Amino acid sequence: HASLRSLAARQDVRIGTAVDTTALSGDRTYRALTAREFNSVTAENVMKWEVIEPERGTYDWSEADALVAFAKRHGQAVRGHTLVWHNQLPAWLTSGVADGSIGPAELRRILRDHITTQVRHFRGDVYQWDVVNEVFNDDGTLRDSLWLQQLGPSYIADAFRWAHAADPRARLFLNDYNVEGVNAKSTAYHELAGKLRAQGVPVHGFGIQGHLDIQYGFPGDVRANLERFAALGMQTAFTEVDVRMDLPADDTKLTRQADDYRRLLDACLNVRSCTSFTVWGFTDKYSWVPGWFEGQGTANLLNEDFAPKPAYDAVRREL
Ligand code: XIL
Repeated sequence: HASLRSLAARQDVRIGTAVDTTALSGDRTYRALTAREFNSVTAENVMKWEVIEPERGTYDWSEADALVAFAKRHGQAVRGHTLVWHNQLPAWLTSGVADGSIGPAELRRILRDHITTQVRHFRGDVYQWDVVNEVFNDDGTLRDSLWLQQLGPSYIADAFRWAHAADPRARLFLNDYNVEGVNAKSTAYHELAGKLRAQGVPVHGFGIQGHLDIQYGFPGDVRANLERFAALGMQTAFTEVDVRMDLPADDTKLTRQADDYRRLLDACLNVRSCTSFTVWGFTDKYSWVPGWFEGQGTANLLNEDFAPKPAYDAVRREL
């Protein structure tokens, strides 16, 4: 049957997946399906700071470069994830800040160099970067991260300016979870984006992770949310879609899951500014969900044996 990517090619949207690079090198079925079904890939972990610069000044691009090479061989675009985040930072950085050996001025230089080095390294190979990840709380206040504490709120504009200088062609995204619909958090992003763009800061896109849980109702006003970012002249993207449930799964839950996937994709396909729809892994075999959400799982399109679930069929029909 037709692959997701061949169906998506007729739309103006890329269909992507996060890639577990260990599985990519060790599991032939996983590798074949990554190539067959998707025309965009995101590194699930290997472009994060702790992997790229494990010791200060020592860079390890090997896993990320291997993914970029895989993507080139298979005609896939690469989403870059992520430059500024409060998680998966290298220990030398967090401990240096904690013990005061890295002060604010030095930290700002470290961040500038990190963004510049990483974006330059992948210049021309990454079409969209998640420049800042998860900078707001659900109530719309800025997250009290190491970045905010040490550098103040201007670190966000700085990050976009540095990334843009390093690769002017890459489209630069804000990215977060719980921002599918219109709510306090997505409204805070909308206000921030409007303010930054008015100041000429190169912010081009709003990334919606899309980690859903079937027990919460489907978020309201998803389409209206995408449209209000489009009205600012911005792209939108679903960047990490998965739909988890309490285990064990049953037919009702799997049907509900399929419907949630379908409705997110439907919103993307119906708003021109939505340029990519990425799932956070495509098989339950390698999902992050069981390790992070107690008692939950089976969040992906294919089961642990790579068999299609109702969600896969729903996504195919929608494309
Ligand atoms: C997750 C990965 O899937 C896990 O393998 C890792 O242990 C932790 O991070 N939001 C994000 C992603 O932006 O980077 C996270 O990825 C999932 C939540």
